[in-house]
Amino acid sequence: MQFLLNLLLSASLLTSVYAASADEWRKRSIYQILTDRFALPKGADLNACDPGKQTFCGGTWNTIRDNLDYIQNAGFTAIWISPVSQNYEGPRTPYGDPYHGYWIADATKLNSRFGSADDLKALSDELHRRDMFLMVDVVVNNVMSLETDLSDLSTYMFKDKAQYHSYCPIQWGNTTSEQNCWLGDTNVTLPDVNTQDPGVVSAYTTWIKALVDEFKIDGLRIDAAKHVNMDFWPQFCGAAGVYCIGEVFDADAGQALQYQGPKALDAILNYPLYNALVDAFAIPGKQNMSALTDMVAQIKAKSTDPTLLGNFLEDQDVPRWANISVDPQSMWNAMVFSFMADGIPIVYYGQEQGFSGNADPYNREPLWPSNYQNTTSYAMITKLNQLRNFMINSTSDWITTPMEVLNTTPQGIVFSKGDITTVLTNIGSPPANISVSAKTSLASSVSATTDILTCRQYAVGSGGTIEVEYSRGGVPVILVPDSSLSGSGLCGHELATGTQAKGSQGIVSDNGVARQLSRSATPLALVAALLMGAASLAL
Ligand SMILES: *[C@@H]1O[C@H](CO)[C@@H](O)[C@H](O)[C@H]1NC(C)=O
Ligand SMILES: *[C@@H]1O[C@H](CO)[C@@H](O)[C@H](O)[C@H]1NC(C)=O
Ligand SMILES: *[C@@H]1O[C@H](CO)[C@@H](O)[C@H](O)[C@H]1NC(C)=O
Ligand SMILES: *[C@@H]1O[C@H](CO)[C@@H](O)[C@H](O)[C@H]1NC(C)=O
Ligand SMILES: *[C@@H]1O[C@H](CO)[C@@H](O)[C@H](O)[C@H]1NC(C)=O
Ligand SMILES: *[C@@H]1O[C@H](CO)[C@@H](O)[C@H](O)[C@H]1NC(C)=O
Ligand SMILES: *[C@@H]1O[C@H](CO)[C@@H](O)[C@H](O)[C@H]1NC(C)=O
Repeated sequence: MQFLLNLLLSASLLTSVYAASADEWRKRSIYQILTDRFALPKGADLNACDPGKQTFCGGTWNTIRDNLDYIQNAGFTAIWISPVSQNYEGPRTPYGDPYHGYWIADATKLNSRFGSADDLKALSDELHRRDMFLMVDVVVNNVMSLETDLSDLSTYMFKDKAQYHSYCPIQWGNTTSEQNCWLGDTNVTLPDVNTQDPGVVSAYTTWIKALVDEFKIDGLRIDAAKHVNMDFWPQFCGAAGVYCIGEVFDADAGQALQYQGPKALDAILNYPLYNALVDAFAIPGKQNMSALTDMVAQIKAKSTDPTLLGNFLEDQDVPRWANISVDPQSMWNAMVFSFMADGIPIVYYGQEQGFSGNADPYNREPLWPSNYQNTTSYAMITKLNQLRNFMINSTSDWITTPMEVLNTTPQGIVFSKGDITTVLTNIGSPPANISVSAKTSLASSVSATTDILTCRQYAVGSGGTIEVEYSRGGVPVILVPDSSLSGSGLCGHELATGTQAKGSQGIVSDNGVARQLSRSATPLALVAALLMGAASLAL
């Protein structure tokens, strides 16, 4: 039964491996890459990259392709890469060089710094061979220049002054100004393309359709989406024919979520949720769990579909989690929220290595000094992806079942999504004599659940009550009824035959460890085992 279901699911995935829809993307888990910073070619100097210098370090589409095991072994089913279009190629600016790929010159040409058209095709093909999706970042709001007078447009896609709005600095809070005035400043200006102009719309739609077709791109991440007139997006994304997720840098759920829906984009990156996660979990911080519960309710009320939104803790524009929160348990609790709640989990490269850089440019560290190790965070992400992928593959509706908050206390939040109950806390690592409980709607036949992170059993009390105490510190807990874990390969359950779990060597040995320890040893021993594992993997 399970086997057949998996077969059917993989068959449907194979036939639709590119031009992926929103419905296909909600089932994915995304690893975000700055192409220049993910991996070096063989023989390159491993010590030459200083994020503070804001210059090229040497990553390419080929080096991503050569290192996909590291991403797929952690259970990710998609990557999002930096913009692929040609960038500014002039002398170094006060803000360095365009290693990030966002300083567009001619969108219709590829960025030769990152490779050739064949290299990008080879990356796309290799992802599809692995059943993974390719999301490409695109910038249409603006180009880049050192001047405000647009005197020489010969190197740009749009060569006529009338195809740009004239220079004005943005007056924040004024929508017209945010859409038509220029991002950037007078050191590096970002001339605003006139996306109301029919000729611009037509050139952009022709271009994006051709780009998506040529490189078999499965989805688009849209830079600066709120700086473009909203009615541009259905035309642009309609021509692309793939899922579009936009950057709408706004903590207010009402403001940000206007950009989701048939009159705008499929989805947005969930900055309102990001801010609520910081408010709830960061240490030191507001430690305001109600802010998170309140945000979940606002998103439910204002989003056309919360399961399509992008959940993240870090990206190239905000400080690393470890820069704003000193306790690792705070990141692990927030991270579990981003995977087990409604929405598509997105992990920014380096988060799994505990990077701690501040905002731009210090949050753009090279990944190679980490030696791509199997850290505690990497191992936890692997389990989260394994559980989420399994629930998606083995049920027809878990992914679209809305989350429900079951209880909120000053130190904890409990929520369910289908049969999974997630219990999170903001107390951090030190043990505390407190507990968090909730009444679930688990069937009365369910008497036991397993926390898939420790493989410990938790009893279900009368009326579906569960309780988690923190005498071992503020760890995240994910409770799954044993009947739902059958075939998952998690916590001693066999992996279903026919399930083609990638990175299965790792997953199987993980089980071995977990099964062995859950009988005899304490969670501390499990943590020690995880840490020892951390030293052994260098991919
Ligand atoms: C908003 O910005 C637009 C474009 O710059 C400007 O024309 C308009 O006067 C501004 N509105 C207000 C109320 O300042
Ligand atoms: C331009 O860059 C310099 C050097 O980084 C900086 O000191 C200055 O504040 C910048 N000017 C503007 C308008 O931001
Ligand atoms: C916590 O968040 C809630 C909901 O956003 C808000 O009403 C409350 O004032 C916040 N509490 C504190 C102490 O900031
Ligand atoms: C935050 O980032 C800055 C710049 O990268 C760094 O100097 C500082 O040590 C970081 N803070 C933490 C807590 O890692
Ligand atoms: C934990 O708290 C309970 C209730 O407040 C109290 O009865 C118990 O003695 C405490 N246990 C410890 C080990 O402090
Ligand atoms: C789920 O299905 C996808 C696509 O067939 C496959 O790549 C993945 O390994 C499966 N995951 C699990 C946990 O079964
Ligand atoms: C990472 O380490 C964990 C814990 O030891 C293990 O279960 C997992 O298989 C490892 N992952 C890889 C890719 O080796």
